Amino acid sequence: MKNKELGFATKAIHLGQEPDPLTGAVTVPIYATSTYVQEEIGKHKGYEYSRVSNPTRTRLEQNLAALEGGASAHVFASGMAAITAVTQCFLKQGDHLLCSHNAYGGTPRMFDHVLAKFGVETTYVDTSDLSAVKKALRKNTPIVWVETPTNPLMMLTDIREVSRIVHAGDAELVIDNTFMSPYFQRPLELGADMVMHSTTKFLNGHSDGLGGVIVGSKPHHAEQLAFNQKAVGAILSPFECWLLLRGVKTLAVRMEQHDKNGRTVATFLQKHPKIKTVMYPGLPEHPHHELAKRQMSGFGAMITFDVGTFDNAQKMLRKVRICSLGESLGGVETLITHPSTMTHAALGEEGRKKIGLLDSMVRLCVGVEDVEDLIADLDQALAAI
Ligand SMILES: Cc1ncc(COP(=O)(O)O)c(C=O)c1O
Repeated sequence: MKNKELGFATKAIHLGQEPDPLTGAVTVPIYATSTYVQEEIGKHKGYEYSRVSNPTRTRLEQNLAALEGGASAHVFASGMAAITAVTQCFLKQGDHLLCSHNAYGGTPRMFDHVLAKFGVETTYVDTSDLSAVKKALRKNTPIVWVETPTNPLMMLTDIREVSRIVHAGDAELVIDNTFMSPYFQRPLELGADMVMHSTTKFLNGHSDGLGGVIVGSKPHHAEQLAFNQKAVGAILSPFECWLLLRGVKTLAVRMEQHDKNGRTVATFLQKHPKIKTVMYPGLPEHPHHELAKRQMSGFGAMITFDVGTFDNAQKMLRKVRICSLGESLGGVETLITHPSTMTHAALGEEGRKKIGLLDSMVRLCVGVEDVEDLIADLDQALAAI
């Protein structure tokens, strides 16, 4: 059977995850080694030094490339390290980078405070507005960076349409697919050139390791990113590669449950009298609901809602018991976050105002617990308002 005929869950469990040829171990071994013995100068088994390549990492990269339907995957020490690698590989001094105007706060922080020092200017547009993207593209724009849905406002960009606009020139489109995972959204099939994930989130799924991946579709992506791993060295450790290989095996079942619980909790929140607005692409009232139905095969676990005031947010967040207050998302446990003081603090008040992120907004990543317990917890916490 050819790999592309296999279903998603089968690929997640078996591709790159083949039993160890030496012992038959069903899980990929953790190759905790920095170097490899060579038989003679230049004669080895394909591995020379673990910054360059490591067998556990190779297996993970094969698995993630298959899940996204890409030609290659390269993993890095965190999502931010993966984003940085893209900028180092595909941008140079004097280039212009175009980025979604509401994205994970760390992304513009790096673009504006690190990348800018090397002479790359970043501008931000609402990439859900295709005419704005067209207008903002310049002759010196090699990369367009799109996050969809966005963190935390859950706005969508039409990947197929934006890729047409980006490809009218010489630019390439990168999609941050962290919120949906390859289970619900497949950007390369919609025309994107590269896909990025903070693997810290749904791909790992257990909140026990950081990581990032870039999945490429063309040979030059693989060449440049492999060179970057070797030259810069922000690679993922064998142990964290193994955690990801373990986590990814249950991605399909986890995403199904995240989605089921997400829809139920979003509906509960929407009916709750203390909540002003709920931003969840699965709700028919969401401005991009039709696009969400076309572009994604599920709506996922991420919900942002407005409780009216900062004080209300604080009161509610003090009371949650099963939902854990903290940064991050994508684990089996429900995490609840206050974006303006946590994930998006780096944007500053002005920056948050520009994208419409209010202090009264709370972000929820609905886990895979019993949904009745989550609703009861949210209900009692909202009673504090
Ligand atoms: C959408 C998105 N992209 C990128 C990142 C950065 O990833 P990491 O925290 O693994 O560096 C995050 C982190 O929250 C994120 O939510």
